[in-house]
Amino acid sequence: MQREQEFNTIDDVFNLIRDELRDAEAAYTGYLQTNVSLIPKISEHIILSGGKRLRPALLILTMRMLGGAPGSGTALAAVIEFIHTATLLHDDVVDEADMRRGLAAANAIWGNEASVLVGDFLFSTAFDLAVDQRNIAILKALSSATRRLAEGEILELMRTADVDTTETDYRKIIEGKTAVLMAAACECGALLAGDDPGRQEKMRSYGLHAGMAFQIIDDILDYTSREEALGKSIGIDLEEGKLTLPLIRVLEQAAPAERERVRDIILADFVSPEDFSQVLDLIRKYRGIEFSTARATEHVEAARELLADMPASPYRGALDFLARYIVNRDR
Ligand code: FPP
Ligand code: MG
Repeated sequence: MQREQEFNTIDDVFNLIRDELRDAEAAYTGYLQTNVSLIPKISEHIILSGGKRLRPALLILTMRMLGGAPGSGTALAAVIEFIHTATLLHDDVVDEADMRRGLAAANAIWGNEASVLVGDFLFSTAFDLAVDQRNIAILKALSSATRRLAEGEILELMRTADVDTTETDYRKIIEGKTAVLMAAACECGALLAGDDPGRQEKMRSYGLHAGMAFQIIDDILDYTSREEALGKSIGIDLEEGKLTLPLIRVLEQAAPAERERVRDIILADFVSPEDFSQVLDLIRKYRGIEFSTARATEHVEAARELLADMPASPYRGALDFLARYIVNRDR
C-alpha cells in the first residue's frame, strides 16, 4: 500500500494539487472576459479577493484520489467556484453586508442591482461551462445542488428572528445553503473519475458532512472570532436575526426571563455591544460553543470514516486533513 503523506498545514494540501489549482485560477479570469466591463470588474473583485478555494480543492482531490487524469477537473473547478461566488454576491445583498474577505462587499461599492445581475451572470456562465462536459450526471448533481441551495437560503429567511427555530430547522438550513454545494463538488470529482456509484455516493456524503461542519464552525466564528481574522464583521448573525446553533442551544436551555431577553435583542433593529456581550454570556453559561463544536466534530468524524473505503493515496490523506482543518480553522 502506498504510504500516506503527512499534512501539517492547509498549504500542504494546496501544494499537492498546486498545478491544477493554478490552471483553475487562470480559468476563472479567462471565462469572465466580456465586453461588458462591469462583469469582469465586479466578478474579479470578489473572485480574486482571497477565497479559500475549498470547493475546487474538494473536487480535484476527489477526482485524483479516484484515478481521474490531472487537468481534467479545471473547467468544473471553475464551475463550482462560480456557483459559490454567485451565491455570495446574492447573499451579501440579502444580508446587506458591507464586508467580505476583508474588502468592501460588492453591493457596498456597486449597489444591489449590479451585484445581483453579475451574480446571475456567474451562475449562468457556470451552467454554460458545465454543459460543455456533456455529462448528464454532472449536470444533475449541479442543478439539484443549486436548487437545494436556494431552498436553504429561503428557509433561513423564513426563520429569521424566530426564537422557536429548532436544531432540526438549523440543520436543514445549513445543509441547503452550504453543505449541498460541497457535496456536489465531491460528487462531480467522483463522476469525472468515472468511478462506481457506491463511491460517488460516499464522496457526496463526505462533502455533505464536511459542509455541515464547515457552516457550524462559520457560525461559531461569528461569535468568537475577530474581524481582522475573519475578513468580515462579527456578531452579524445576531444583528440579522439569524439563529445559529450556539444561540439555538441557549434558547433550548435558558430560563424564561433569559429567553425573553434574547428575543428582545433579536427583534431589535440594532444590537448594542452590551446586548452582544449579554448574549455571549448566555452562550458561555449554556456552553453553546462547546455544544456546537461537538456537533461539528461529529460531522468531521463521519466524513473521515467515509474515506476509509477509498483507495489510499496522498489525495485521500489530503481529504482527511481538510476535514480536520475545517474545525480547527480561524477564518
Ligand atoms: C452564506 O451564508 C450563504 C450562502 C453560502 C448561500 C447563499 C445562497 C443564496 C443567496 C441563494 C442562491 C443563489 C443562487 C445563485 C443559486 P452566511 O450569510 O451565513 O455566510 P457569510 O457570513 O459568509 O455571509
Ligand atoms: Mg451572509
